[in-house]
Amino acid sequence: MTCAATSEGHCTQTPQPYVWTGKPLGEARSAPGSFYTSQAIFDAEMAHIHLKNWIFIGRADQVAEPNTYLAVDTVGGPVLLTRDQHGELHAFANYCRHRGAQLAEGAGRRQRLVCPYHAWSFGLDGSLLRAPGMEEVPHFDHAKESLIPIRMEQWAGNVFINYDESAPGLMAHMGNFPDLFATHRVEDMRWVFGVEIQAACNWKMLLENAMESYHTATVHARTVGAQTSVTFQGEDNWAAIQVQSTMTTAVLDKSAPAPFPQIEGLDEQARKGTYFTLLYPTIQFVFAQDCMWWLAVRPVSPERSVLSVGGCFPKEYVEMPNFQELAQPYFTRWEAVAREDAGILERQQKGVSSVLFKPGLLSPRDDVVHTMGEWVRQRIGIAAYNEPF
Ligand code: FES
Ligand SMILES: [Fe+2]
Repeated sequence: MTCAATSEGHCTQTPQPYVWTGKPLGEARSAPGSFYTSQAIFDAEMAHIHLKNWIFIGRADQVAEPNTYLAVDTVGGPVLLTRDQHGELHAFANYCRHRGAQLAEGAGRRQRLVCPYHAWSFGLDGSLLRAPGMEEVPHFDHAKESLIPIRMEQWAGNVFINYDESAPGLMAHMGNFPDLFATHRVEDMRWVFGVEIQAACNWKMLLENAMESYHTATVHARTVGAQTSVTFQGEDNWAAIQVQSTMTTAVLDKSAPAPFPQIEGLDEQARKGTYFTLLYPTIQFVFAQDCMWWLAVRPVSPERSVLSVGGCFPKEYVEMPNFQELAQPYFTRWEAVAREDAGILERQQKGVSSVLFKPGLLSPRDDVVHTMGEWVRQRIGIAAYNEPF
């Protein structure tokens, strides 16, 4: 399909009937248990998917000032996002060049990062500044001992890294994904919220679940409740559904007006609801009429993942004197709903681990679950995954 932002920044993309690939609707089943439990499949995913694709690590405005840093764990190890003294953004492998201790934790502002092991110190541009005692080492060259840079690109203030130097660029990976959300002006938003949830389930379950509204009436009966959605025809590396509601879905109390106004200039489709998206392989951005939040999934093992929930609002809302009070219901909703999801997925993980597990028929409302399974299966290769769907 064609999708282009018009000169006014409006997206012409409209929901399409979902097109099944592979087995037809009514025959397509969910994946076999090994898809969620096998170490061999997990290893294949690591090699062919996670270390070859763009990984979202946070917002550029999380390191807004010169000499600030943010430590982020990724599938490829600890990463350091920094803004140097000249305001330039960098991503480095977060370990000391002496003997590999993790250099920084959390986030903060420093002129230099001092290794807690033997006190080598590094600038926020990655350069080695001091290495106590190393002047006695013949030919020791500070310039050769800088932090190891990681390939990094940004879209609308969202920062991604890629461990594969030869992978296509981020914009090529996303295709027309950004067009759909042009009028949300995410580049003008500010990060305000983050929480990490440990989940005893396979990484794919978290993302599959995030892309279907079938479960909402039961899993979220006490929070968001039943939702209905329409599916957009994604491109190679993204999928999107829109939960239909003219009021933001980012707060639970629908009896009162939303705390914040709608983003000015939202296009007609954007005003109709909240987009839940999947930008393969591991990031869900959610675009509501008044904010953007995300679920970023970090695979740890076949049966363990970390779910990072983050959120941002337009800059002008964040500058309101009572912002924290107005935003609290959003923070509550983001965390509560994510914990409800993690809870049911831990039960799903237990179920699919049964030696008697047989995949069930997919519902039409599991359409993106089906798409995602195909996306993964195509990339890990049949050798690593030879049970049919
Ligand atoms: S490991 Fe960092 S100074 Fe030794
Ligand atoms: Fe959910």
